[in-house]
Amino acid sequence: MLFDFATLSPNIRYKLLVSTVVPRPIAWVVSQDVHGVLNAAPYSFFNAFSSEPPVIGIGVGRRSSGHAKDTRANILETGEFVVNLVAEETASAMNVTAIEFEPDVDELAEAKLSVCPSVAVKPPRIAESPVAMECTLLQMIDLGPNSGIVLGRVLAMHIRDEVVLDRVKGYIDTPALKLIGRMHGTGWYARTSDRFQMPRIPVSEWKR
Ligand SMILES: Cc1cc2nc3c(=O)[nH]c(=O)nc-3n(C[C@H](O)[C@H](O)[C@H](O)COP(=O)(O)O)c2cc1C
Repeated sequence: MLFDFATLSPNIRYKLLVSTVVPRPIAWVVSQDVHGVLNAAPYSFFNAFSSEPPVIGIGVGRRSSGHAKDTRANILETGEFVVNLVAEETASAMNVTAIEFEPDVDELAEAKLSVCPSVAVKPPRIAESPVAMECTLLQMIDLGPNSGIVLGRVLAMHIRDEVVLDRVKGYIDTPALKLIGRMHGTGWYARTSDRFQMPRIPVSEWKR
């Protein structure tokens, strides 16, 4: 069935995209306003786009009221944020931080999460997250009023000691991270425990 996006409402376009582009990793973004008020929220229009330079991207829409989400406002104000990744054990806490609280509410306190200081940026990271990336704003690509894509340069990563297999070689025990992804509809998620391996095929082998 063909869906011509020119004829569809924004709501249907959203549903088609999020029901099919799955699973999506979740950026659990910690930012701060200029007064230091902490903010945390999950964003699943998210991925890593480049390793050299190391760049991640996050799609931040507007609130239903049309106002900017706090994450967007804070990143534009301060240019700094931390992307934490979400493991199974922190799924419910992540969901609490998705509540559209007023800007002065600290979602981390609401979700009873603790923080550790960052080394290169002001916003702290979530202590309960196995992976955190300290980022600075590289570029905001505007996609309409109060909505856009945040491109962030990764300055430093924190990875839980137990899952670092070889620090020098950069080997990580990825399955042990137990990260989750966002699926379709209202509130569906996927675990990353169902995997299969398929090595790349060298061109020489293919031609044989
Ligand atoms: C798993 C999950 C993923 C989400 N992904 C996005 C997203 O990619 N873009 C977006 O604008 N909102 C997304 N949201 C909604 C925001 O988290 C929500 O609007 C939040 O209140 C924004 O908080 P803030 O104003 O503190 O930034 C997501 C919510 C959940 C639960």
